Amino acid sequence: MPSVYIKTYGCQMNVRDSEAVAAQLLARGYTLATSEDQADIVLLNTCSVRDHAEQTALNKMRSLAADLRRTGREVILGFLGCMAQSRGEELLQQLPAVDLVLGTQKLHRTADYLDELLRGVRTKVVDTRPEPGSESAIREHLAAADGSAPVTAYVSIMQGCNQHCTFCIVPQTRGPERSRPISDIVAECRQLAARGVKEIMLLGQIVTSYGRRPGLNGRPGWLGAGEAWPQPQTVSGSELSPFVRLLEAVHTIDGIERIRFTAPHPKGYGDDLIHAYGRLPKLVESAHVPVQSGSNRILKLMRRGYTRERFLEIIRKLRAVQPGIGLSTDIIVGFPGETEEDFQQTLALCQEVEFDQVFLFKYSPRRNTPAASMPDALPPTVIEERHARAAELINAIARRRYAAMVGKTVQILVEGPSKKNPHRMMGRTRCNKIVVFEGSPRHRGQLMDVRIVRAGSYTLYGDPAIVGLVPEEPPLPGADKRDKVSHPVVL
Ligand code: SAH
Ligand code: F3S
Repeated sequence: MPSVYIKTYGCQMNVRDSEAVAAQLLARGYTLATSEDQADIVLLNTCSVRDHAEQTALNKMRSLAADLRRTGREVILGFLGCMAQSRGEELLQQLPAVDLVLGTQKLHRTADYLDELLRGVRTKVVDTRPEPGSESAIREHLAAADGSAPVTAYVSIMQGCNQHCTFCIVPQTRGPERSRPISDIVAECRQLAARGVKEIMLLGQIVTSYGRRPGLNGRPGWLGAGEAWPQPQTVSGSELSPFVRLLEAVHTIDGIERIRFTAPHPKGYGDDLIHAYGRLPKLVESAHVPVQSGSNRILKLMRRGYTRERFLEIIRKLRAVQPGIGLSTDIIVGFPGETEEDFQQTLALCQEVEFDQVFLFKYSPRRNTPAASMPDALPPTVIEERHARAAELINAIARRRYAAMVGKTVQILVEGPSKKNPHRMMGRTRCNKIVVFEGSPRHRGQLMDVRIVRAGSYTLYGDPAIVGLVPEEPPLPGADKRDKVSHPVVL
């Protein structure tokens, strides 16, 4: 059977989509090639969020096409995902060597279309039409290379976004919000747990809006067909949102030790979700709260739907519930009309919050978005210069926060060999910090306590803490007990 190589650009949602496509192709008898040079089919799963991501994939395809012309090899070339969705047919005109262009709601049809191309039933396929129910089609998972289950599994809970931030192309590429039923998601997580998965990462473009839009027949979007209409549920005076109901449902699954999610929107951090951090022990102490800017004027132009003050209130409340919580954010510098004063407010917000990690982006105009035609676009030199200043501050703060972990004993979930040094193992703290330590592949999938001995750049180095031999560290002020619970470790 033909072999396929899939290259993925962009976010975790794309990684998940590629995994589901690969699993689907394997089930059809295709094999997975380890490099593009050996493959009969090369698929690029693309990202559109910034121009740079699109150009990288376009250049890659150009160079693949040039190689094929030179060598005369017959290889099927395809674009999948966000750029395929937003550019469609136009990609074939730009790159005539491309055979397949499949949008974000058509990924589950990849095997069908490849079959048709291979049999010569068609010579080109472009399909970017919406497909009702496609949000539930991303469900197959792959085993690791050695056949074992992954430690962490990504589970797609919804597709699309209705927020329409003025800079963002995602609502165009991923379509409107569509959620899978809770019962469906739980069934998938149970199967994963049965295969040995320890951690679930719930994924979607705006997961905190999970289930908010009506599903088919006007029923709640998170209710399966034939399931009884649910009663409102209230905990500590807050009515639970569908997303928190989903967290509770996944929380009941035996074998799942940790739950994470991405990507959320600040407006989704209502009291119900904030309290969930205090009452659901498997929900790790880590929150991504994408602020984008510290200036109310810019937040309004971005149509983000919150103010700087409301954002800071969310952070205060999260830290009141979990003082040691790991906090990350997304920031865009150089949005049209951003003044030095607006930028200073973003820097001041970073100083005030002290994020553990910031994903910092230079504003990139996207087609058919309101921001792309706003006045006062900034010159690239100003954007570069602000980016460098922001990066310096953000890295200095992160260095301090990482250094403050030295000497502490923390629980990690061991994911596998370290990417930089495969002779060492790597795990993640509940607060989402990477810890590298001397271990063996036997530790994979284990929860273990390590004592942090050194901090590098966005990496901690640890020593496995042998229970009873390591003196107890004084707790972080108000730190949750779970960080210090010892787990038996096979050494
Ligand atoms: N909720 C989404 C956000 C999509 S994009 C998700 O993660 O799937 C991720 C981040 O990219 C955004 O939070 C924003 O900081 C950045 N981004 C989006 N559009 C951008 C643009 N036009 N220019 C620069 N950065 C952008
Ligand atoms: Fe994009 Fe805003 Fe949605 S950043 S994905 S439109 S929440």
